[in-house]
This record gives sequence, C-alpha cells and structure tokens, in this order.
Amino acid sequence: MSFNIDDIRKQFPILKEKVNGKSLVYLDNGASSQKPQKVLDAIVTYYSTVNSNVHRGIHTLSQLATDQMEQARAKVQHFINAEKSNEVIFTKGTTESINIVANGISHLVSEGDEILISGLEHHANIVPWQMLCQKTGAILKTIPIDENGGLDVSKIDEVLSSKTKWVAFNQVSNAFGVINPIKEIIAKAKKVGAYVLVDGAQAVPHSKVDVQDLGCDFYTFSGHKMYAPTGIGILYGREEILDQLAPWQGGGEMIKEVTFEKTTYAELPFRLEAGTPHIEGAIVLGTAIDWMQEVGIENIQKHEDELLIYASEELSKIETVEVYAKNVKRAGAVSFNLKIEGVHPSDVGSILDKFGIAVRTGHHCAQPIMQHYGITGTVRASFAVYNTKEEVDELIKAVKFAQNMLM
Ligand code: ALA
Repeated sequence: MSFNIDDIRKQFPILKEKVNGKSLVYLDNGASSQKPQKVLDAIVTYYSTVNSNVHRGIHTLSQLATDQMEQARAKVQHFINAEKSNEVIFTKGTTESINIVANGISHLVSEGDEILISGLEHHANIVPWQMLCQKTGAILKTIPIDENGGLDVSKIDEVLSSKTKWVAFNQVSNAFGVINPIKEIIAKAKKVGAYVLVDGAQAVPHSKVDVQDLGCDFYTFSGHKMYAPTGIGILYGREEILDQLAPWQGGGEMIKEVTFEKTTYAELPFRLEAGTPHIEGAIVLGTAIDWMQEVGIENIQKHEDELLIYASEELSKIETVEVYAKNVKRAGAVSFNLKIEGVHPSDVGSILDKFGIAVRTGHHCAQPIMQHYGITGTVRASFAVYNTKEEVDELIKAVKFAQNMLM
C-alpha cells in the first residue's frame, strides 16, 4: 500500500473526537496507541461469529476459535521471525512476559550470580529482577548512561563477566525513545555465556524486529502499543530455554495429566498459558499485525522518524525547552522539560490538554533515569503512524503558550 497519511487517519475513528473543544492531537502512543477500524471490526467479528473457549471443545465454534488463535500465533511468529510457533507465548503484556521469565528461571539462578540491566529501563524491567535477586541472592548490576543520554557501551565490558548469567534491557527506552545498540550488547553477553531478554515494547510498534537475527533468548512486547487491544502481549523465547522455565501459574490448559499426587505439564506453548487465554486479544493482535504489514513497517518507521526529528528540532528552538538525549538515535518519542523554576511537567501537560493535545508527563515508570538527570519527570510526546507534521506544529504552539504562561 502506498503511504497516504489522510487515508491512514480516516481509519482511526477516535481521531475525529474533540477534546476540550479542540481536535484531538494524540501524542501518547508510547503509553497506548489508538486502534484502526480493521482492528475494531475484528473485535466485533470475533464475538459475533466464533466466540467460545479454545483447545477444549469438540464443537465447531471452539474449533474455529482455536484455529483463529493458532493462526494469530503463527502471524506473530512470522512477524518477529521466530523459528517455531511454539516459541510464541500469549501473555497479558510486556510486564507479565518479563515476570514469567524472572519467576520461571529462579531455579537456574544461584547466590552470587549477576544479572545485568541497563540504566534506561522501565520499572517492569527492573523490579522483577530485583525480586529474583532477593529470592536467590543474585546481584543486580547496571550498564550506565553516558553524557548524551544513551547507554555507555564502553562500560559494558567492565560490568560483564563470567558471573553474568542474565542480561535484560530494552531495545528502545520508553522514557526518552533512545535506541539501544542491542546487537552489540547481545553479542557481548553471549561471549560470556549469559542469557538475554529484550524488552521490545517500544520497538515493535516502530520498526521491523527479527529475533533470530538479534540472537536474543527472550523478546517481549505488548499488543496495545501496536494498534491491538490491551491485555494481550507476547513472550518469545527460544524453545530450548523456554522449556527450562518453571511455569509461573498452574491451572487448566497447561497440564498433560493431573492426579492428587502429581501433575505433568503440557508441551510449549500451553505449559506457560494457564487458564482461559485472552482469545479475542490474541486473534485481534493478528489483525493488528496484518494492518501494520499492509501499511508497511518501513513506511511507519520512515514517517515516525521524520516526525520525531522535526519535533525534536522545533522543540529545541524554544527558549526554555530542554530536549533529553537529543543527540542520540531515538524512535517513537521525544522527552523534554521547560526549564523554568518551579514548573513541573504536569503543569505543561495540563496546559497542552486544554489544547486537545495528549502527552504523558511524569517519570514514565522509569525513575532511575529521572534520578540520573536530577529531575522528577519529563513531558513526553510519542508518535504513531497517524500523527502529522501539522500536529507537531500544534504541539510547538501550545508549548510556547505554556512557556509564556508559566514564565
Ligand atoms: N510503558 C508505558 C509508557 O511508557 C505505559 O507510557
């Protein structure tokens, strides 16, 4: 499909909404994206045609729902280029995916082992590892941030050693949009024999991901940031390592045989999917992938990169604005503050909201980054394929208004 922004925008009914009497300018896509009509229709179609439970029924509807869910799993497999479909586990989202791993590997972690994360992580990729360290006596280490706001790759060799058993970091930082040199980090981690988990929540909506090319052991992401519903996400893991994870939830669907004495578990992927899954979410995630592929991932990336560069440059021209990590390669988001005494990011966010502009303000669930900069938070404008240069102009106008009002 050739890229036509007007055609794309027409597919998102919510973009016609007025907020505070103004046309909605939705720049909070890092938190959650809007959904195209094709995705909205797929939700209704699922409940109107095949709604039933999966992997349980001999009846036709159950088989149809099961087929559709497994087709969605295969779509995810091809989307991220996983080798096998049973390496794709449906979860609630990135947070649950990371927790499944951090819980499931505790029997493989010993006292004194080191777990390495980066200084740019979301709390979801910090707290589960801290909990694992508390349980096992492992030690949490971090790759520091450099003076530009990117990861200080030169320090990786200092913190990686044969004691490093697990490495976990994001491909794109949610708070600043910084793109991490993940192939380099994975290669270095592999050299010392560590397993690697990548938090791809802020990468998958913006660029093509190939887990085999990356060489990671686990890759995690959420549906709702990539045009699909909330409550559905993915844990990809290489079969060999996924097989070693202890299931973190027991129940129906994940068993082969249960007696009061003993339970044997089902094969992958079901062993890690206890209970009735988010069937509609999984199927509609498949629809969202179809939609993204129809638009073209390269088109999405190119369009959003142009918006990000433009927004970053125009914001930097405003007298009191500081744009964070502006000299580092970024994707999807620009984070900034008005450097005016006593002004909090939420003051700016509230003024922008009056103009119908939705941004996220605060620490973005990434407090260690804010501590690094000595700030409490930022204003973050984050992009999706339906955003326009004109919307960035609206943002710039409103930020200038906020500056004049708050100075
Ligand atoms: N992780 C989401 C964000 O960055 C919620 O806003």
